[in-house]
Amino acid sequence: MMAAEGKSIWMDGRLVDFGDARVHVLNHSLHYGVAVFEGIRAYETLQGPAIFRLKEHVARLLASAGLYQMPLRWSAEEIARAIVETQAANGIVPSYIRPIAYRGEPALGVKNSTGKVSLAIAAIPAKKYLGDASESGVRAKVSPFRKPRSDSIPSFAKAAGNYLNSYLAGVDAQKDGYEEAILLDSNGYVAEGTGENIFVVRGEKVYTPGLESDILLGVTRSSTIEIATDLGYSVTEKMVSMNELLTADEAFFSGTYAELAPIKQVGQYPIGKRSPGPVTRRIMEQFRKIVHGEVSQYARWLTPVPALAPAPPPRVRRS
Ligand SMILES: Cc1ncc(COP(=O)(O)O)c(C=O)c1O
Repeated sequence: MMAAEGKSIWMDGRLVDFGDARVHVLNHSLHYGVAVFEGIRAYETLQGPAIFRLKEHVARLLASAGLYQMPLRWSAEEIARAIVETQAANGIVPSYIRPIAYRGEPALGVKNSTGKVSLAIAAIPAKKYLGDASESGVRAKVSPFRKPRSDSIPSFAKAAGNYLNSYLAGVDAQKDGYEEAILLDSNGYVAEGTGENIFVVRGEKVYTPGLESDILLGVTRSSTIEIATDLGYSVTEKMVSMNELLTADEAFFSGTYAELAPIKQVGQYPIGKRSPGPVTRRIMEQFRKIVHGEVSQYARWLTPVPALAPAPPPRVRRS
């Protein structure tokens, strides 16, 4: 859990004090889960604070809003600019940035596709989601809750209601003493974590489930595929069975919140010989350098955040 704290929140075009960012209790999104959002990170880099893969996150937000018929009043460029502005105004690094589109006005009745859509953007301190396990290895439980099929709830949209499934799986795993849950798809193939995608490694080959397993197409996932390929590994998107997970040499999660985190155990079964395994460790190390702006080849993934202009000095009245 991340304590939410920051200085100001962008709401429909203006920055308001953190404590004043309120919506009505009878809003449509609260009652029916119809809201779409993003999770984005800003990192400290050698060139100053920078937002990781901003364009891709904004594109996914717009795609999610499109599916749920929530027209946004801002273009991709305007949303990206508002995110940079919010990050700069809060001045917190590393930060976790949460843009959310919602219907905030009091209106009950589920078939509301015309109510006003609002956009809010917060930038709060980022924490290590999976704690020390993010470095040393996560113990994950295979959840009794499966991913809903995409003909029930399309997984490509990052919608608030999808997280009922993540919540059930995550809390169940946590109560059983695990750090994370792994959800299977409706056919029994490995899908993803509650807020992460999953990769398995056999020798020098890397595999990850695709959209047919009803996953969210993670921005970190696509970054990882590119990084691993550039490092010389073969990466294949395919359905991953429990057999393949339990006999993998290595496995790891990828997500904005969790970053890259090795999986050392699934249920009672250890994965591989050590955690992180050599391939995971190499990809994690490269990812860490990239997000901190240390690999010029990937500089295009980072959007710099300019420092806020200093407040003008108080005017001195001459007598
Ligand atoms: C269910 C689910 N899968 C995967 C991910 C990873 O996506 P990303 O790498 O874009 O953060 C997330 C996090 O947003 C998620 O909630």
